[in-house]
Amino acid sequence: MDEKSRGRRTKDNIRLYDPADFAGMHMAGRVAAEILDEVAPLVFPGQTTGEIDRVITELVEQKGSTSATIGYKGYQHASCISVNHVVCHGIPGDKVLKDGDILNIDVTVIVDGWFGDTSRMYVAGKLSRKAERLIQVTHDALFKGIEAVRPGNTFGDIGHAIQSFVEGHRMSVVRDFCGHGLGRVFHAPPNVLHYGQPGAGPVLEEGMFFTIEPMVNLGRPETKILADDWTAVTRDKSLSAQFEHSVGVTADGAEIFTLSPAGLFHPTYA
Ligand code: MF3
Ligand code: CO
Ligand code: CO
Repeated sequence: MDEKSRGRRTKDNIRLYDPADFAGMHMAGRVAAEILDEVAPLVFPGQTTGEIDRVITELVEQKGSTSATIGYKGYQHASCISVNHVVCHGIPGDKVLKDGDILNIDVTVIVDGWFGDTSRMYVAGKLSRKAERLIQVTHDALFKGIEAVRPGNTFGDIGHAIQSFVEGHRMSVVRDFCGHGLGRVFHAPPNVLHYGQPGAGPVLEEGMFFTIEPMVNLGRPETKILADDWTAVTRDKSLSAQFEHSVGVTADGAEIFTLSPAGLFHPTYA
């Protein structure tokens, strides 16, 4: 059996990693988070998303890591950059950022065979009040989800914590994309839904590694995929935001592998 498929598993086919494996995820998560820290100064009006991705590609290599997204299902870039009403999987390119644009940059790297997957929001120029509200609610929704991570809780508890918080602010949770198990592989069971019922879904156990990555829309939750087969946008053209952390379940809570070493996870740090 190869390294990718070995290990203990639950009845839901969720892999349980060993205590020593947390160190590997911590290293991979830190590299991904450092890259997101280091591109923050590149986000300004007039910049292209392609240039940001070019620098990310360089940083991935400089840090001795590998991009998990280049070559993944034919995807050709080291990042996804999703601007304004793009929900996720925006393809970097010639698009020029303009004042007030909000964007998610999502990076996944492989370090020593471990996957670190994280994304956060950035602003080009001046943040509007409504975008600021959306970003704050989305950020806080991720942490509501992380607070629900502990052995004995369920994945439904995580989804419910996120959904009830977001809908309490009269915003909507995207249903068409979800978080995922990861570790020695990029995408593994379970699907981590950002909505749900308390007590529903698989029970969390120590040693599970997965992402939580809620996408929140100011308008309706429905999405559609553009003709490039990747870019997901809100159907109603409303603004969308997303934050993503990779986490591991510990004996009494969660370890976040992708914390920002520079404290730049939230975009209104300036
Ligand atoms: N990093 C994304 C996630 O959070 C996946 C991107 S796959 C890509 O799962 F091919 F679009 F890059
Ligand atoms: Co992910
Ligand atoms: Co990601």
